[in-house]
Amino acid sequence: MVELSPSILSCNFSRLQEDLDQTKNTRVKMIHIDVMDGLFVPNISFGFKIISDIRCGNDLFFDTHLMIERPERYIEEFKKAGSDRITFHYEATDDVNKVIDLISQNNMEVGLTLKPKTDPSLLLPYLKDIDLILVMSVEPGFGGQSFMEDSIERIRFFRKYIDNNNLATKIQVDGGIKTNNVKKVIDAGCDEIVSGSDIFAKDDIRGQIEKYYEIFES
Ligand code: DX5
Ligand code: ZN
Repeated sequence: MVELSPSILSCNFSRLQEDLDQTKNTRVKMIHIDVMDGLFVPNISFGFKIISDIRCGNDLFFDTHLMIERPERYIEEFKKAGSDRITFHYEATDDVNKVIDLISQNNMEVGLTLKPKTDPSLLLPYLKDIDLILVMSVEPGFGGQSFMEDSIERIRFFRKYIDNNNLATKIQVDGGIKTNNVKKVIDAGCDEIVSGSDIFAKDDIRGQIEKYYEIFES
């Protein structure tokens, strides 16, 4: 079953918990938490305090996407704040294996991701050691951008490698996903769908979530 990971970047932070309450009694099991440092990407979002503040009121899997330089510096803090999975960027560290080990040692799932222009074959050696590969379908940094069509090719590329090598690694896609294009990323082989502005920037958050799950079932 495909899962939805709504991105809280598109929430209204002045009433973050009210927006998150709209995920309650829906089929959503996880939320996507985008951390940006203003160096790896040109934008700054939020840090540990927001994550630990929402941890107590939300019984969801915290899918944390780090868009920060040298993520190895902060893995323990994200664990303490309440993250369940850390996805970090291949381009953000000199030692990918070290970051994978650190995340595992802190009992979190490991995700690895790449910017749209990075050669996907560079990440293949790591797929056996991670839980999730995230295909960025926009340049990381901002919500509300348009889906890059060439992402479909990268999703297919990872799907083929994972299946050919009998791996259990999941594929997630992030950026520009809407109810009208989600079907094609599922058909290309995605297991998890991140969607921000098409959920939390909508008036009917609950209704949007339901629409996604109806498409997943169709
Ligand atoms: C972008 C972030 C995304 C963002 C997606 O750098 O990684 O998770 O919140 O937002 P939408 O779905 O609006 O493209
Ligand atoms: Zn993200």
